[in-house]
Amino acid sequence: IDLDAFITGLPKAELHLHIEGSLEPELMFALARRNGVAIPYADVEAVRAAYAFGNLQDFLDIYYAGADVLRTRQDFHDLAAAYFDRAAADGVVHAEIMFDPQTHTARGIPFAEVIEGLLSARAEAEARHGMTSLLILSFLRHLSEEDAVATLAEAEPWLDRIAAVGLDSSEMGHPPEKFARVFATAREKGLRLVAHAGEEGPPAYVMQALDLLKVDRIDHGNRALEDAALVERLARDGMTLTVCPLSNLKLCVIDAIEDHPIDRMLTLGLKATINSDDPAYFGGYVADNYRAVAGARGLDRGQLATLARNSFTGSFLPAEAVAAHL
Ligand code: HPA
Ligand code: ZN
Repeated sequence: IDLDAFITGLPKAELHLHIEGSLEPELMFALARRNGVAIPYADVEAVRAAYAFGNLQDFLDIYYAGADVLRTRQDFHDLAAAYFDRAAADGVVHAEIMFDPQTHTARGIPFAEVIEGLLSARAEAEARHGMTSLLILSFLRHLSEEDAVATLAEAEPWLDRIAAVGLDSSEMGHPPEKFARVFATAREKGLRLVAHAGEEGPPAYVMQALDLLKVDRIDHGNRALEDAALVERLARDGMTLTVCPLSNLKLCVIDAIEDHPIDRMLTLGLKATINSDDPAYFGGYVADNYRAVAGARGLDRGQLATLARNSFTGSFLPAEAVAAHL
């Protein structure tokens, strides 16, 4: 079989996906119409044309504006259902999806509307595709730690259906240490922990995520490669990195896909995985990300299988479920 079919057919877990980043322009327009929300684009083509980013903040400004069309439980259900269908077609059998409650609660959308919509889509995906999923509540790091604490308190009735907390949004100037207390609280409540680190921020932010937040995974982690001792530590500890090649390209973390360090990460002994991050904004779902680096870096099937295997061993599934996927 050809490489395309091999990649699609390879069972994969997706570990780094922002559900708000899976909002395709077509659904954005449909929800804008359904909710009577004005959007500053003439049509779907104009939306796609606006997706040219010079850095993370350029993207975030457009991403938060796009999320304004999400208003009801049904909207969050439809958003997640579209993602699960698309991911299933790419051979994703398990997904750990981040959601940003503060993006919605700050606009007056109740936390319950957001999470209940996501949970109903999750149940539907399990019934329709046999696809399992877990939710990661991600805090916006450009907001205060007190706001994150209040968000975790709001989530209390659903904590049995939330696997982990995460940390996303503008990295520079918002180091992990800002969230040490709320992460400690989340850990005490039995939640797993992840944080974006080393996407734009320096290796020191990756170290803070490890030492001060005590994360179970690093989201991105690219800039850890600048520090040989840190690389050695990440490799020794078997720390999973949720790498997002097309995101790295679109947000100018790399200049060209041919420069992507995914194979270097594997050679260094790092437990890298491939993920789509915000597929509606970055031009590809998870199989597109595998294909992009396979083509640009000449990855062989063994390396692709290793990346897929890492996605299960780096997941928050119980050990028996991980074993069943290997
Ligand atoms: N980085 C930080 N915050 C985000 C991202 C990202 O890649 N995607 C959505 N929120
Ligand atoms: Zn991300």
